[in-house]
Amino acid sequence: MKGLLSLMASMEKIVSLCKRRGFLFQSSEIYGGLQGFWDYGPLGVELKRNLKDAWWRDMCSGHNEMVQPAGAPSTFDMVGLDSTIIMHPQIWKCSGHYDMFHDYMVDCRESKKRYRHDQVRGRWVSHQEAKVFVTTMAEADEEQAEIQHRALKYFKLRPKDAEALVYDGPSTTLDTVDEFSQVLGPDAKTLGTLTEPREFNLMFKTTIGALGGEEDYAFLRPETAQGIFVNFKNVLDSSRINVPFGIAQVGKSFRNEITPRNFTFRSREFEQMEIEFFCHPNSSQDWYRYWRDRRLAWYQTLGLSRESLLMREHAAEELAHYSVGTADIEYAFPFLPKGEYGELEGIAHRGDFDLRSHMEGKLDPSTRPMVVELDEFGKPRHRGSGRDLTYRDDITGERFTPHVIEPSAGADRGALAFLCEAYHEDEAPDENGKPQTRVVMKLHPRLAPIKAAVFPLVKKDGMPELAQEIYAELKRDMAVFYDEKSAVGRRYRRQDEAGTPYCITVDTESLTTQTVTIRDRDTLEQTRVKIGELAAELKRRISG
Ligand code: GAP
Repeated sequence: MKGLLSLMASMEKIVSLCKRRGFLFQSSEIYGGLQGFWDYGPLGVELKRNLKDAWWRDMCSGHNEMVQPAGAPSTFDMVGLDSTIIMHPQIWKCSGHYDMFHDYMVDCRESKKRYRHDQVRGRWVSHQEAKVFVTTMAEADEEQAEIQHRALKYFKLRPKDAEALVYDGPSTTLDTVDEFSQVLGPDAKTLGTLTEPREFNLMFKTTIGALGGEEDYAFLRPETAQGIFVNFKNVLDSSRINVPFGIAQVGKSFRNEITPRNFTFRSREFEQMEIEFFCHPNSSQDWYRYWRDRRLAWYQTLGLSRESLLMREHAAEELAHYSVGTADIEYAFPFLPKGEYGELEGIAHRGDFDLRSHMEGKLDPSTRPMVVELDEFGKPRHRGSGRDLTYRDDITGERFTPHVIEPSAGADRGALAFLCEAYHEDEAPDENGKPQTRVVMKLHPRLAPIKAAVFPLVKKDGMPELAQEIYAELKRDMAVFYDEKSAVGRRYRRQDEAGTPYCITVDTESLTTQTVTIRDRDTLEQTRVKIGELAAELKRRISG
């Protein structure tokens, strides 16, 4: 419990630093905020952009199709795409989102509140002859205290009578309870006020054009993936690439989550970084393993520790309707109880479900091999495009529907994981040499919003002029920050909190020797370099 409390405390500190230093703000805050929506401030926008750029560079634009990467079954091509957020509504029928993209929710008849069925937690509590399932929506560290408080209130007992309560088993989610007559809803005073779980489609609906009739509805995309599938043929025909190849896309997705929570972890508007990788069915299992391992390694190269990451293969019953195999890369977010992990990215083997569904009509996921789902008249339940989305291998002459491996990452969840990992408190000497607690965001230099800060040691003797020259020169190549206000120790502290990996100081010696010091955020080591070699030295350190 102590461990959990300190984890939660660190989450509170991270949230507070994010607001104080301009990483993240609640959307529409001056109007009271909008739940599930977040704005990135001046530091946050740079962090998230750096994350997306790193992904794009490492997965797509920097890929060398002539070299076989370690662990890959062969060489392959990678290209990019930027498709629209609003697409033809038929796409979501064939993808399965129209019929199957839902969560279960329960409504409370007393409080009029709505909850996600699997997110309401509770515990069976008895007193004398009565046994009640007392629920709560409290965060993990407050859950037991809240259950006890509510149980005491319900049984009309006083806090000193807590011993009279008998618990039956540990806390669990509401979806393990079959019948709700003995359930005390999270905001209810009486039993049995929760409705049976009902389906709730997570897609945001909108209308196209001025008339906006029932025929003109459309959806905001809940994933970027479908934009890639429906452009498969366009990309193939317009680029000189062959299977195996991947199409990468970064962009906004929208899901009307019933209970958005845990900071940006579950938002209603978020960004995804997705690859759809098209390969021959015979080699698809090998490609699945390649992408799974490569994506896990990527998070580590940017600073997530292996101990905070978990690779979790889904059990057969957990697999999505299209999936032959899926693994989640999970991270030990500090808002979760110790030992629990939250999804950062899913790597799914989707077989040929998507391309065939967009060709032939939505497939029935329960059939093996999958066949088109039919309506009561024996016609396809959702018609496909009728376009040929098969691939012909020029060398062997074989025609086949490629299989798809999909590494699907969230840019916001990624940014949140890197923020959590970066947060540290340690001790560093202040300007008088006295050790002081400092908050330092140990972000990887590639992700850091500001790469270097430039300071004149004092505001006189020509130091500001030289520092400003250096600042102007560096700014051509990287995000830098100039600061001459307050004592240099305080300026260091501010940059440590912003995650700036290097501070450049112009001092008396700089004026005569044309050198500056570079202070390393993590080691606090100061090295002197020639001004003429500074830019190259910083670039070397940032990319290293
Ligand atoms: N195309 C497959 C797909 O969309 P997903 O597991 O639903 O799969 C992929 O989403 C990733 O998108 C997740 O691993 C997560 O990082 C991110 N994501 C999904 N829903 C999200 C939400 N409500 N808020 C923030 N990120 C989300």
